This record gives sequence, C-alpha cells and structure tokens, in this order.
Amino acid sequence: MDVVIAPADEIGEIVADDIAALIEQRPDAVLGLATGSSPLRIYDSVAERVAQGRLTLARARGFMLDEYVGLPPGHPCRYSTVIDDEFVSRVDLVPGAVRGPNGDAADLTAACAEYEDAIREAGGVDLQILGIGTDGHIAFNEPGSSLASRTRVKTLTAQTREDNARFFGGDVEAVPYHCLTQGLGTIMDARRIVLVATGEAKAEAVAQLVEGAVSARWPATILQHHPRVTVFVDDAAASQLALADYYRHTQAHRHLVS
Ligand code: F6R
Repeated sequence: MDVVIAPADEIGEIVADDIAALIEQRPDAVLGLATGSSPLRIYDSVAERVAQGRLTLARARGFMLDEYVGLPPGHPCRYSTVIDDEFVSRVDLVPGAVRGPNGDAADLTAACAEYEDAIREAGGVDLQILGIGTDGHIAFNEPGSSLASRTRVKTLTAQTREDNARFFGGDVEAVPYHCLTQGLGTIMDARRIVLVATGEAKAEAVAQLVEGAVSARWPATILQHHPRVTVFVDDAAASQLALADYYRHTQAHRHLVS
C-alpha cells in the first residue's frame, strides 16, 4: 500500500494524471467511480483536461460504487444524478457508458446480481476511485460487512446517515436507510485502487485503513490485501498515522527507487 500525503488541492491533479496515463495506454479502460465529496477535485481536473482537448474519455466506461434504495430517477441526491452532474455531463463519455446499481428496482437482489454480471462482462475495473467513511466504510460496506462480500443491499449506519445529511439539506430523516453497494470482494477485483481522504474527520478511519488490523470492524482494512492501492491523504487526514514521517520520507525519495 502506498501512502501519499499531499495538499488536498494537489491530490485531484495527481490522480487525474494517473487516469490520463491509463486512458492513453488503454482508451477503453473501465473506471470505478465514487460519489461524495472526496473525488470532486479529481473529476474537476479530468473535466478540465477533456475541455482543453488534452484527454478524451470517448471510449472509456465507468461503474459506480453504490446507490441509495428508493430514490426515484432524477432525484437530486440519487447517486446516478450526482455522478451525471459532477462528472459525466462534464466529460465526453458516451451516453450509457457509466452504470450504477439500480436502487429503484422491484427486485433488488436481482439488480445486484445483474450489476456484478455487467462489471464482469466489461472485463472488470481497471482503476477504482474510492473515498472512505468516518466509520471506515468503502462504497457503503459498513462495519461488519463480509470481507468477501459482493454487490448487495446494505443498511446504512446512523453515523453514515448523519454524515450524508449535508447532501440532503441537513435533514437526516431524508437520507435513505438502505443502499445497494458493491461488496468488498467486488472492489478487491479492481486491478488498481486509489483512495482519497481529506480532513480531520477521516483521520481515525485512515489510521485504521493503513495501520490497523484487517477486520470487518473497519471494512477499508481489506485493502491491505490488495497489491496495488495508493492512499492519498492531506495532513489532517494523515494526523493519526503513526508512521506518517516514514510515508513522507518514502515519497521524498521515490525518485531514487527504480
Ligand atoms: C460514495 C461512497 C462512499 C464515500 C464515503 C466518503 O460513492 O462510496 O464510500 O466515498 O462515504 O464520502 P465523502 O467523500 O463525501 O466524505
């Protein structure tokens, strides 16, 4: 696991560089797209490059991590709406190139199985972007999630509903209780993973993710078993890392390592 401590406004550029390099190598790459505030600077930077003609996503495809249950199509907080507003509508992805689990399906279990099939049929995710919840979730795999889980219905914790109330006008009661989420096993199938966390509120979850014991109590810790993960954190999110100086040192001497 690589840990990169950088100012929040630089992280978006660094990850966008990675995405651009991937697309240059593989124009039809499959991107794994997170919602929430953590990836916004990445999406801004990618959109800017597309607008300037320096990057095209015309052949790329994307899969979202999760979706609330019960929000109708077009609802402003539905993740499919959010990803359209914040990313898809600002780049040149073709219509239908980004898919998400259908949280409005009559048969949610079937919708989860279909979603797993769709990711597999696309050849799997080349680069997965992740945020992390204050309770250690990735996607919406809340504490107690099976470390081998696949896409399924989950119940959100009270903490996550409180954290996400800011997207629902501050009204926690408006935040759904349930979601569909890629499982931890699904996420672990991605060929490369980039996790972004900024701000003091993420410091404990980041410390557990990087330095804690692998456990369903802190679901993000499963990433310690993935061979290609980079964790990007700002100083505040890095503030509980016992080995922060070592990660900075590693970063400073990166160019000496082949
Ligand atoms: C969103 C998602 C979540 C968020 C996490 C952090 O698709 O999967 O795991 O990444 O809740 O949210 P923010 O970035 O808003 O702090």
